[in-house]
Amino acid sequence: MEIAKTIQSVRSLVKAARSKSKKIGLVPTMGALHIGHISLIEAAVKQCDFVVVSIFVNPTQFGPGEDFEKYPRPLDADLKICRKTGVDVVFVPTQEQMYPAENLTWVNVEKLTELLCGQSRPIHFRGVTTVCAKLFNIVAPDVAFFGRKDAQQAIVVRRMAADLNMPLEIVICPTVREPNGLAVSSRNKYLTEEQKKDATLIYKSLQKCREMIDDGTTDSETIIAEMRKILSQAPSIEIEYISIVDAETLHNLDKIAGKALAAVAVQIGPARLIDNILMDASKK
Ligand code: PAJ
Repeated sequence: MEIAKTIQSVRSLVKAARSKSKKIGLVPTMGALHIGHISLIEAAVKQCDFVVVSIFVNPTQFGPGEDFEKYPRPLDADLKICRKTGVDVVFVPTQEQMYPAENLTWVNVEKLTELLCGQSRPIHFRGVTTVCAKLFNIVAPDVAFFGRKDAQQAIVVRRMAADLNMPLEIVICPTVREPNGLAVSSRNKYLTEEQKKDATLIYKSLQKCREMIDDGTTDSETIIAEMRKILSQAPSIEIEYISIVDAETLHNLDKIAGKALAAVAVQIGPARLIDNILMDASKK
């Protein structure tokens, strides 16, 4: 496994692989790798011949007062995981490599980024799409892998690639959960054991949503009220939003018919946690 610290070195490694007609896969991450990230890497290893994992805590997607400084950066452990999972190159650029000067050029996907998490994190998705566009330009992968856990991010990145005719496929992989249902996240590290227990209510509320739809409830407001009841069982949970939206446009659905995304964002102590499930009400 190679560790590339510069744009030039990752480009030349990918160029050599491409000259052997290898299919290039990219898994963009911010490190602190866990089983969620590993599932993406495994999918990439399966579907591609040459896998690049990028590890870069991207400053432009963090708002003021967010956790950029304290975001975990366990590089040695991350490299070990990459070695074990069959990664070919880990791209670990410095901030100076990625943003050598004041950034004046931004990639901004409209509308989709103003909803859900965009309401409380107004510059977040602009940072994500800009850094992903940069990574796609640097690595030039055939396929890039994202997690359903961050459903809005995956939808936004897919839309950017389509709107800008980027020559790559975006694969979205299922959410990996703890046995108790909690979606695995680097930010779970910020929680105490008690808060982790409270956090399991997030998935419980999403399961309730699925159950109600399966039982024939189509009114979002009724379902959201039940989800709110579940989340309110833990006083440590501050609800940011509970939304049931169209899985493509992310617009709120009053009545649930075809493909719907139920998405939740909460604050528990120091951590902002998000989770979602995708449902197809037409398939019962
Ligand atoms: P990060 O939070 O490190 O996540 C990297 C990728 O892992 C994302 O596509 C995310 O959706 C996926 N992922 C995280 N937890 C997961 C889980 N429990 N199950 C499945 N996939 C999971 O998301 C980012 O980094 C950044 O915004 C990035 C895209 C790298 C741009 O900076």
